[in-house]
Amino acid sequence: MRAAEARVLLTGASGGIGRAMVQALHGAGAAVLGVGRGTPSMLPAGAAWLQADLGTAEGVAAVARAAGHWRANVVVLAAGLPAFGPLASTPVAQMQAVLQANLLAPMQLTQALLPHLRGLPRAQMIYLGSALGRIGLPGFAVYGASKAGLHGFAEAMRRELADSTVRVQILAPRSTRTGFNGAAVEAYNRATGTAMDTPQVVAAALLQLIESEAAERFIGWPERLGVRLNALLGGRLDAGFGKHRRSLPSASLNTITEGESS
Ligand SMILES: NC(=O)c1ccc[n+]([C@@H]2O[C@H](COP(=O)([O-])OP(=O)(O)OC[C@H]3O[C@@H](n4cnc5c(N)ncnc54)[C@H](OP(=O)(O)O)[C@@H]3O)[C@@H](O)[C@H]2O)c1
Repeated sequence: MRAAEARVLLTGASGGIGRAMVQALHGAGAAVLGVGRGTPSMLPAGAAWLQADLGTAEGVAAVARAAGHWRANVVVLAAGLPAFGPLASTPVAQMQAVLQANLLAPMQLTQALLPHLRGLPRAQMIYLGSALGRIGLPGFAVYGASKAGLHGFAEAMRRELADSTVRVQILAPRSTRTGFNGAAVEAYNRATGTAMDTPQVVAAALLQLIESEAAERFIGWPERLGVRLNALLGGRLDAGFGKHRRSLPSASLNTITEGESS
């Protein structure tokens, strides 16, 4: 649909990419209802805000109710949590939080929002995926798994809803300069020659995706090519990731050895 016709419910609206999306959507004439756990310091005039924690059933239900009352016809799920480092450094609690925010919450929100969206003449459901959801990189096993799950979910939902009025889409940025990526990721990106986009690049791609209604959009070159090659060649590319492996910070979590946990 045209951006000016869009009434966009946006999760992750307080984040680096989310804030750029709020500005871009507002500039294109779309109405915006942002969702975040806190209250934003600055919102464009006319933008609305809902405080909700997507890690709770109450938060998910509040978003679904607000989508109906506010008559949202585009939902953009951009809330998410990062995880970076060798697997041995990733506490199980962080694995659970990342899977909850990046995969379970979008599934629960989709289920809760569909009754409203299916009642509209035209609606769009857009997920924030990642190049790392299609290319597994050393250091991003947990995060990449959460986004790979989200890509699989979005693809299946797109096909499940193909004869409905709801268009399912996925926007997959590459590394982007926001608070999401700490100094360790920036160092890894420098060492591996990985380019980083500004959040404004991602926000501009969202506007294009709303208007084109394309199924998916991967941002950046060579990531777009990498995603295709990885799907075709898989394991035959493994030898190309030695520099990424060597650029990881060393493992720091104290692993529990047998006997210590009792
Ligand atoms: N930055 C990148 O390199 C990059 C690359 C590819 C894809 N992405 C994806 O793009 C999306 C946005 O990333 P970003 O860079 O903007 O990250 P960010 O600046 O860290 O923002 C994350 C957003 O997620 C929200 N959030 C996290 N947990 C939540 C919860 N339980 N309930 C409600 N909101 C929650 C945060 O809200 P609060 O204010 O409440 O914390 C915040 O608005 C994520 O899905 C990320 O995976 C990012």
